[in-house]
Amino acid sequence: MTIETSAVPASAQAVPLLRVRDLRVTLPSAMGVAAVPVVDGVSFVVHRGETLAIVGESGAGKSITAAAVMQLLPDGARVTGSIDFNGRELTQLDERALQSVRGREIGLVFQDPSTALNPMYSAGWHVTEAVTLARALKGKAAKEAAHAVLLQVGFPSARFHAYPHELSGGMRQRAMLAIALAGEPQLLIADEPTTALDVIASGRIRALLAELRHQRGLSLWVISHDLPMVAELADRVVVMYAGEVVEHGPAHRVLRAPAHPYTRDLLECLPPMGGHSTRDHRHRLPVIPPADSVPSEGCRYAPRCRDALALCHAEHPTLRPTADGEARCILVPATGDAQ
Ligand SMILES: Nc1ncnc2c1ncn2[C@@H]1O[C@H](COP(=O)(O)OP(=O)(O)O)[C@@H](O)[C@H]1O
Ligand code: SF4
Ligand SMILES: [Mg+2]
Repeated sequence: MTIETSAVPASAQAVPLLRVRDLRVTLPSAMGVAAVPVVDGVSFVVHRGETLAIVGESGAGKSITAAAVMQLLPDGARVTGSIDFNGRELTQLDERALQSVRGREIGLVFQDPSTALNPMYSAGWHVTEAVTLARALKGKAAKEAAHAVLLQVGFPSARFHAYPHELSGGMRQRAMLAIALAGEPQLLIADEPTTALDVIASGRIRALLAELRHQRGLSLWVISHDLPMVAELADRVVVMYAGEVVEHGPAHRVLRAPAHPYTRDLLECLPPMGGHSTRDHRHRLPVIPPADSVPSEGCRYAPRCRDALALCHAEHPTLRPTADGEARCILVPATGDAQ
């Protein structure tokens, strides 16, 4: 399958907005604290004005990474590492300061609409509430601001009073975008914004995200396994597998010439576009195996990797430099001239 990638290169002068360093998240399990972190030493940067995509199949730790950045993890979660947003260390902020960051500086579109939309209230009510909280507007001013945000995301005014169940998937997603944008944040995190949508609605949301980025100068962090969407929107891509970053680099290179076997296999799993493909789709990677079947030694991908060598089962690979990023694989020459 040919993937058309965004033509926008990451700027060499890029200024970091969000910098996550060595993030580790361990969640409580039924038997106390789980032994294996679900996010394990993850580092990445979102620059001002760019679109970063984090990709990987279900269970890779993508949503938990976003929840950790927003400090919205389940009770009992243990977090280490650094989350620097605009020069402030989010892990050191108290709840009051965090509430001001959430919505006003970072907007999050949740993966699950039921987390963000209460079925008892209309779309307009949700956005008005978000505007009230984030911008301290009240009454008529808040309602007008809510209408304005909804207009920006293409949500028709006539549906202001519609309840979530009365909306199509695409309109629900627009309402969620409006909630996330109500506080005029600098960074928008969109977790699987198109996964639940049909092809047409998904295309419209993609176009809307691209437009919002250019019109508002938004920095965008998209989490998805919709690789065609990632190719269209992203400047850079981070690939996660079993809680770790296994590859990162410019979108146009990672999606055309992946350096890591997992990225390659992920791309081969894409369904054929237009019903025609010469690719072999036997190597399907639907969901990461449960944590207890991810090996504790060696490369985490080794049990599924077609290129695995004996050494892969013994040695945990570190990220090695490629010409324009990094990849966690012993087959990548340590010199960095893999491309
Ligand atoms: N609330 C939770 N409690 C316990 N484990 C969780 C919870 N949410 C996610 N997990 C586990 O954390 C891992 C990463 O999940 P997640 O970040 O949601 O993956 P992704 O978004 O990449 O599909 C998975 O193994 C998942 O089962
Ligand atoms: S280190 Fe070995 S098992 Fe892991 S991705 Fe590379 S070749 Fe495959
Ligand atoms: Mg997720």
